[in-house]
Amino acid sequence: MTNAPGHMSSEEFRRHGHALVDWIASYWERLASHDPALPVLSRSKPGEVAAKLPGSAPEHGEAWEAIFADVERIVMPGITHWQAPGFFGFFPANASGPAVLGELLSAGLGVQGMLWTTSPAATELETRVLDWMARAIGLPGEFLSVSGTGGGVIQGTASEAVLVAMLAARKKKGPQGQRATGPHEGGRPVVYASTQAHSSVVKAAMIAGICDGPEDRVGMRLVPTDDALAMDVGALDRMIDGDVAGGRTPVMVCATVGTTSSTAVDPVRAIGEVCRRHGVWLHVDAAYAGAAAVCEEFRWVVEGAELADSWSFNPHKWLLTNFDCGLFWTRDRASLLRAMSVTPEYLRNAASDAGAVIDYRDWQVPLGRRFRALKLWFVMRHYGLEGLRAHVREHVRLAALFEGWVRADERFEVVAERRLGLVCFRLRGDDGANKRLLEACNATGRVFFTHTVLPVPRGGYTLRLAVGGTMTAEEDVAAAWRIVRGVAEAIC
Ligand SMILES: Cc1ncc(COP(=O)(O)O)c(C=O)c1O
Repeated sequence: MTNAPGHMSSEEFRRHGHALVDWIASYWERLASHDPALPVLSRSKPGEVAAKLPGSAPEHGEAWEAIFADVERIVMPGITHWQAPGFFGFFPANASGPAVLGELLSAGLGVQGMLWTTSPAATELETRVLDWMARAIGLPGEFLSVSGTGGGVIQGTASEAVLVAMLAARKKKGPQGQRATGPHEGGRPVVYASTQAHSSVVKAAMIAGICDGPEDRVGMRLVPTDDALAMDVGALDRMIDGDVAGGRTPVMVCATVGTTSSTAVDPVRAIGEVCRRHGVWLHVDAAYAGAAAVCEEFRWVVEGAELADSWSFNPHKWLLTNFDCGLFWTRDRASLLRAMSVTPEYLRNAASDAGAVIDYRDWQVPLGRRFRALKLWFVMRHYGLEGLRAHVREHVRLAALFEGWVRADERFEVVAERRLGLVCFRLRGDDGANKRLLEACNATGRVFFTHTVLPVPRGGYTLRLAVGGTMTAEEDVAAAWRIVRGVAEAIC
């Protein structure tokens, strides 16, 4: 009998690691060649994966070969292939060779970058790469760490970015920004976003204690949108005036550049002017669209950032860096730190005490953090800005092609302006026909679309084709259109 935990030897790790990298490379090749055994949307039924798994953990360690065989047998049938070239759902979630290798290296180094001193490279590389990216997308200099007052950090997600922004915004307001208790609404902090904003804004307000639940419209105001589904700035201004008159404290506005449903763009500069007038923090959520700003012709994505207090986007969507990698910049590092910083004795160290370093634990909700900057650094160096621009440009070109085909077929309509890689389209029929179209297209296994519901009369039930997969090429978009047309013929 032995109590030794039975670690994998270095020799075994090498062997299995090489085999695993081979397996991933082959998986990507199978996806690229549209292997019919890998339908884009998993066909697994609820409970099917769980039924193949024992109820308790094994008492004795198992052979790696047996463990890995179960990946094929149990896991793969339950995988929706986000990296398949026919994946057009939601927004993309790019993986790429350099990013996955960065992830592997981060796991292998196994460092915890909560404090500068716990791995100086994890902090300093992140700071530098965030400055690189801020420059690459044209953010104002105040958002760079070299400004001394601003800077960037990698959050897990855009949802965490908006939460962190809200906490900093509330802190900046001082005691007024805190939640008043008692039966009256007076004194309550209020945050604002358009009706088209991502649900993460409401969720952040719930977590921050600013609103009581998803339906609380006192702490969380949803500003109406105009015909282009962009925030109505006049309505925002009036709402803020009304709240101030009612004794409430406007704390933050979240503007969206590239909404989830339709890539609508809020007028950031005009919103920023309203925010400045009222002393309200402006956060910009460009989770998807931010990637496009690496291209000069899409720099409209950062328009108005000079009036924003914080700005975020996700390279884990469309910039070849696998999940999770959400970037967040602020021009007001001090408010962020005041909102997030707490220092128990066991975290004290000379570098932090001297104020000479960045401790990223103070820029995020958790204490611990992975070395995520590695994968972004690898991606930026492997592709270069030129490669990143080519990636974005090609997908915008393909989305425009698809849009053209839809517009040329009178059975269909494009129901929202296409700005980047997302096309919102539908049959000129009822919602039921569009739902059947979506389901039948997805059932082919070759493509996967998702839907949204846009305000009637603009659209109702609408199909979304988001071009952005790492491997998605023109033939895949052409195949998607053939499938849509074929299915439409069959069901109409
Ligand atoms: C505009 C927008 N904001 C926020 C999010 C949430 O992103 P995350 O999963 O990084 O929290 C999304 C997701 O698609 C989004 O489209």
